[in-house]
Amino acid sequence: IARYAVFGHPIVQSLSPRIHAAFARQCGIALEYTAIDAPAQDFAAELERFAGAGGRGANVTAPLKEAAFALCAQTSSRARRAGAVNTLTRNDGQWHGDNTDGAGLVRDLTGRHGLDLRARRALLVGAGGAARGVAPALLDAGIGELVLVNRTPERADALADALGEPGRAHSRYWKDLRDLGDFELIVNATSAGRDPDAAFSAPLSLVNSRTLAVDLNYGEVAIPFLAWARSAGCHNVVDGLGMLVEQAAEAFEQWHGVRPQTDAVYTALRERED
Ligand code: ATR
Repeated sequence: IARYAVFGHPIVQSLSPRIHAAFARQCGIALEYTAIDAPAQDFAAELERFAGAGGRGANVTAPLKEAAFALCAQTSSRARRAGAVNTLTRNDGQWHGDNTDGAGLVRDLTGRHGLDLRARRALLVGAGGAARGVAPALLDAGIGELVLVNRTPERADALADALGEPGRAHSRYWKDLRDLGDFELIVNATSAGRDPDAAFSAPLSLVNSRTLAVDLNYGEVAIPFLAWARSAGCHNVVDGLGMLVEQAAEAFEQWHGVRPQTDAVYTALRERED
């Protein structure tokens, strides 16, 4: 049986095994997909062990996406633009890396949520692996202006430099957020919500009545940011569950050559939450 896995730390909460199992049932494909907990210092060894045991493909989640990029023999252009990998495929004894996060987010926002991203003003909060994965796809989708802020400003500067479109994508200091006006899209790509005591705080002036607030996380980790957005007056708030299902579909298609239907899987996971 073909073996697949998701690597991360922590990983127990991951929905990826359930999503890939559902896609496999739908498409009549036999596979095993497990979750492997790998602290950063063990990741390279765990991935080699997995390859040795017949692993053919893997997803990678926080905090390993930049490390995964470094372990690949070959990478797709969108992975190189992100400097981060979330999808690994074993070919000829080597890992090939891709990043399907951005395509997954854009598909969720434009397809499932009917948002037109063209010429919109967007604020991206965070500059780690998740932010790096989605920023290029937001620009490709036609975002008019992408403002990058991060707790550690140098990482936002580095991401802006890597994007290489100073006219559209630029970094700002967190302390200057109140001078930036409002945004039609605000994306939280930080992992701050992992801290159970975390509260998200930012000026309410970032939000207008039509702002869409998106957290790339799902479940409890998304609560602080989405609660802030609601309190700021956002009517449209979305967590990262749709993006998760869409990025999984992209990976599934690469590995198995068929594109799964995502709506039923998304709805089933959403209902389980309630
Ligand atoms: P991921 O793959 O989820 O992006 P990561 O690469 O470790 O994980 O990046 C985590 C992001 O969340 C970073 O932008 C980080 O900010 P720093 O670069 O300053 O570390 C951000 N982050 C984590 N905890 C945070 C907090 N309490 N407040 C604000 N930002 C936080």
